[in-house]
Amino acid sequence: MQIDIDFGKSHVFVFGGTSGINYGIAEAFAQRCAYVSVASRKRENVDAAVTTLAGHRAQVRGMCADVRDFDAVGAAFEDAVSQFGPIDVLISGAAGNFLCEASSMSANGFRAVVDIDLIGSFNVMRQAYPHLRKPGASIVNISAPQATVPMRYQAHAAAAKAGIDQLTRVLALEWGADGIRVNAISPGPIDGTEGFRKLIARSELASAEAAVPLRRFGSTDDIANLALFLASPYASYVSGAVIPCDGGGAIDSVKPALERAGALMTSGT
Ligand code: HXC
Ligand code: NAP
Repeated sequence: MQIDIDFGKSHVFVFGGTSGINYGIAEAFAQRCAYVSVASRKRENVDAAVTTLAGHRAQVRGMCADVRDFDAVGAAFEDAVSQFGPIDVLISGAAGNFLCEASSMSANGFRAVVDIDLIGSFNVMRQAYPHLRKPGASIVNISAPQATVPMRYQAHAAAAKAGIDQLTRVLALEWGADGIRVNAISPGPIDGTEGFRKLIARSELASAEAAVPLRRFGSTDDIANLALFLASPYASYVSGAVIPCDGGGAIDSVKPALERAGALMTSGT
């Protein structure tokens, strides 16, 4: 099934768009005739993404930039806008992660992830701002369930993603008057991606999948479909929202606590 929205001649910029979930989003827009810009750190990833995206007969441009480098991020936007004009859709999804207990995490390890995920998201949105179509631009940040559900070994990413959620809401307030919508997607475990490989042990795959209320892991298409919706006129009154796309995982994680609370209420204590 295909979502039938034409993004013809819209400029869609995907930061961190050269692999995994974000690449899947870039591809969905390329398939719908958008002008697509992708950026990430590594030249080989950028070149590979540009080649495959161009296979959809889309107009594509690729830039190398580390989201931690404010000036390099700005230069990437200048380059893209000189080619494709103002940005209609900005996806900000660059991230880094590793599993590590806080008690053995180095300060630099914590900082590296916060720098990429949170400071990087600010850099991307701040540098994009002068180039966003006003009114009409849609920004979609990529968050994660750890923003609200504390998870062991994820002190750095959980703190950073919580910051991204709140940054999303504050910028929705500040930039709403410009006609810019700002939202975020919080993906559950997405099969076949780097985040999935890094965070879920192979031996735990079956039990992890069984714990998802919909009883399956997500796909990059699941996330791309929500991004298409958020970028489209169908979402013209949606702003400041952080939307889980996780097969129901977010609600399930609160269930045990609610059930315990309910049991206490019913027993009258
Ligand atoms: C402990 C680690 C570590 C590990 C790195 N560090 N890996 N500490 N365990 N496995 C420490 C290093 O020792 C160093 O601290 C500091 O982190 C920075 O490491 P560098 O390698 O110098 O950093 P850098 O080259 O910038 O790489 C950043 C990175 C890397 C985050 C460490 O993994 C990366 O580039 N990742 C991008 C791809 C990625 O992770 N994608 C998955 C996103 S998944 P010291 O003190 O030694 O200097 C995701 C999922 C969300 O976000 C939720 C899913 C449910
Ligand atoms: P991924 O394949 O590793 O994608 C990360 C992308 O960001 C790559 O294109 C990478 O390319 C780029 N990137 C990394 N560090 C960067 C930096 N410092 N500057 C610029 N670009 C950088 O990861 P993924 O698993 O698909 O995750 C994508 C997004 O979804 C992330 O925001 C992640 O937190 C979120 N998420 C993923 C899952 C999941 O199950 N996978 C679940 C919840 C949330 P380069 O290496 O070339 O820089």
